[in-house]
Amino acid sequence: FVTNSYHCWLQYRKIENANQYSDIPSSIGVAGNTAIIDSAARELQYALKSMLDVDSTVQPYTSNESSIVLGTYESVNLNNYGISPKLFDDLNEEGYLLKTTEDNRQVLLIGKTDRGALYAAFHFLRILQQEESLLGLEIVEAPKNQLRMMNQWDNMNGSIERGYSGKSIFFNGNDFSKDVTRIKDYARLLSSVGVNAISINNVNVWDVETKLLTEEFLPKVKEVANILRSYGITTYLSINYASPIELGNLPTADPLDKEVGKWWARKAEEIYSYIPDFGGFVVKADSEGRPGPFTYGRGHVEGANVLARALQPFNGKVVWRCFVYNCLQDWRDRKTDRARAAYDNFKPLDGRFLDNVILQIKNGPMDFQVREPISPLVGAMKETNQVVEFQIAQEYTGQQKDVCYLVPQWKEVLDFDTYSDGEGSTVKSIVDGSRYNYSHSGIAAVSNIGNDINWTGNTLAQANLYGFGRLTWNPDLSTETITNEWIQFTFGSDPTVAGAVEDILLQSWRTYENYTAPLGVGWMVNPDHHYGPNVEGYEYSKWGTYHFADRDGIGVDRTIETGTGYAGQYFGSNAERYNSLEDCPDELLLFFHHVPYSHKLHSGVTVIQHIYNTHFQGVEEVETFIKSWNELEGKVENWVFENVKERLQLQLENAKEWRDRINTYFYRKSGIADEKNRTIY
Ligand code: GCU
Repeated sequence: FVTNSYHCWLQYRKIENANQYSDIPSSIGVAGNTAIIDSAARELQYALKSMLDVDSTVQPYTSNESSIVLGTYESVNLNNYGISPKLFDDLNEEGYLLKTTEDNRQVLLIGKTDRGALYAAFHFLRILQQEESLLGLEIVEAPKNQLRMMNQWDNMNGSIERGYSGKSIFFNGNDFSKDVTRIKDYARLLSSVGVNAISINNVNVWDVETKLLTEEFLPKVKEVANILRSYGITTYLSINYASPIELGNLPTADPLDKEVGKWWARKAEEIYSYIPDFGGFVVKADSEGRPGPFTYGRGHVEGANVLARALQPFNGKVVWRCFVYNCLQDWRDRKTDRARAAYDNFKPLDGRFLDNVILQIKNGPMDFQVREPISPLVGAMKETNQVVEFQIAQEYTGQQKDVCYLVPQWKEVLDFDTYSDGEGSTVKSIVDGSRYNYSHSGIAAVSNIGNDINWTGNTLAQANLYGFGRLTWNPDLSTETITNEWIQFTFGSDPTVAGAVEDILLQSWRTYENYTAPLGVGWMVNPDHHYGPNVEGYEYSKWGTYHFADRDGIGVDRTIETGTGYAGQYFGSNAERYNSLEDCPDELLLFFHHVPYSHKLHSGVTVIQHIYNTHFQGVEEVETFIKSWNELEGKVENWVFENVKERLQLQLENAKEWRDRINTYFYRKSGIADEKNRTIY
């Protein structure tokens, strides 16, 4: 049962107009003998056969033959092509030159390192698949972000925390999966979009996973790391902060305890004896009940630095998550605010972490809601390495039943001006390391894949994985470019299909927002599993995620004067804008302000009327998606057609349920009728 959707965007669809490539070299000249170069050569061979029916040979590189040259600026004599190796001086380690010689007899795929050569090969294949001309190509590229990381939330029993597309491809039955085919194909997918690091287990590290650091499992971690490495991907593990107790039988995991420090140092040595280029640890500490330095009366600095010291001799890194908040809030206490927590916890610690510590900050201050402001911690620590964390898994955005294309959201995050260093201090300029000269930084994301045949549950959710990679490689790529690439690679170039899919994807985030929680207030979901509406689901729980709706109004007062003061965590004009009822953007109004239902938005309608309008509209938009998708029957692979069709039906049911529950709730609370007199139950 092979389906194109298994291959996602690496289907290498047959090129209709193959004539223009009739003189493409059929020999691949390989300069260099590494696993990565080998992967690149095999990918080229496979893709050329698939797209152009060319049977290519792979052989050691010689300068005078017509070939696709695959190597590094050191392994290929560039002077033969009149290229100065100096060209590579300004490129980072993963950059490359992609060039076709004038007579078209040579295609040069030259990396600064072998990773660069692999990325050049994938770039070349993208050009072919888009049926663009190869004449006179000369492209010099390098990734903008250093760390481009995937976080699997996979447990060793095979389940995936917040996984919506089957079971883990890495683990099952409290062990590693025997079949590594999917891991290898996943590595291909990831490296084709430039992802260069992965943590393979859930940030919540339970009993069995704690043992990943032991001789019982390290040989298997090593096997997986070998596969990933051959695609330029570095392996990390999520660790249990209490490991010195649980694995080392020490009485404590106190980071300042000498024995604990020694234990971690020995552990690092052991890990590196298996995996010499091991990336390091991802750590969820003192968060949602997981152990951390607080457990032993210490803070994050001591907590992270003990690990950093252990990993430092091997160039390993500590990715320390900032998702730390008090999840046992008393509703009477209007000053405690989960949104404030990351900033309050970490900002005072700026400059105190060792250089191989990187703080990983969720893009919003709460938890991956459909609409949140950007975390004020991003840019607020000038002397501490930072990575921003996205969630590709659609935990709060439809769980890969509903379509919700997140690239437009991530673009907004990356383009957001924090003003942390004056105007133009965008998030992307912070996480690419350029603004504050971070030694390590980048973007990480929670993966959305599982062992479903199409990887992502809803086939359209593949676009989020693709888009994350491309955007992380280059945050300046436009949403349209990324979207069109994915559509073309996945569905081919039929303009009817492309148009319909593009319209659905580009509208889908807004649509999801329309029928769910309004104006940035978030939540209103069923507790625990987080799918479907439950307006008061978290309102009467201890997790501290309130909307404070009553008969008079709704929203969280996070202003400086009368609220939690959260708005004051932003720099300059952002703080002023969010703090001001007049200037606060409509879409975040209820995140920052508690207002009466009759409050008039900039859009001209009242809050209550906005709620009604968007909820009716959201459902209508899903109906439009269904209509345009149905027109693609016979034009896309049947299995994919049925998959998306079925999911759109689920989405419609979900959207209607949201509409009706939200509308009824607010009609009853406010007593204000819909101006347009539509059906409210
Ligand atoms: C969310 C999610 C949890 C996850 C946590 C995290 O709260 O619901 O399942 O463990 O984020 O990011 O650590």
